[in-house]
Amino acid sequence: MKNIVCLISGRGSNLRALLEAQQARRWDAAPPAAAAQVRAVISNRPGAGGLQIARAAGVATEVIEHGGFPTRAAFDAALAALIDRFDPALVLLAGFLRVLTPEFVARYEGRLINVHPSLLPAFTGLDTHARALAAGVRVHGATVHFVSRDLDAGPIIAQAALGVEPDETAEALAARVLALEHVLLPRCVEWIIQGRVRLAAGRVVAEGLHAADLLVTP
Ligand code: GRF
Repeated sequence: MKNIVCLISGRGSNLRALLEAQQARRWDAAPPAAAAQVRAVISNRPGAGGLQIARAAGVATEVIEHGGFPTRAAFDAALAALIDRFDPALVLLAGFLRVLTPEFVARYEGRLINVHPSLLPAFTGLDTHARALAAGVRVHGATVHFVSRDLDAGPIIAQAALGVEPDETAEALAARVLALEHVLLPRCVEWIIQGRVRLAAGRVVAEGLHAADLLVTP
């Protein structure tokens, strides 16, 4: 059984989508080489809504508050020790609002992925929807990528894209992109646990997948 550990900071809607996919698609009952389960959810914020979602699904939860550590490196080392207790095949950043040290990223190379609410490499960082609107882009979306040392810059696994409505608000756009994230993220996780997607020499290998698989649209 491959263990998935999810790191969150907030409401956890992507976590919910993942847990629903796990149940609907019976990841636990797959052949041994591809069987997987969300083994634990770890939050750096005790009030993160996603913790309730995890508990309701019977998934172990842990809270590790970054404020209790003197340095970023100390927090990341403690976080890694906690993650490793769950023997993860995959570590998923699902709305985890922390910049990670290069040491942390290196430790999980090839098994650490992130979902980011823009079409990378455009709009790294925060406030992506408002910035996309301010820039006047006509196409916007979300990206799932392997995490590298540079923020929101790792090798792209798949993306979701939609057309921006002329008078769309940032809130409306965010909601539409989020709905696509909920399709995109479980899909990418499933490919990884099945071994169809992997990182090799800094590039994504996607065996047997085609453009239509790797782009989610409304
Ligand atoms: C999502 O928009 C994700 O792309 C970003 O953080 C947000 C998390 O939302 N990294 P949720 O906690 O999964 O609802």
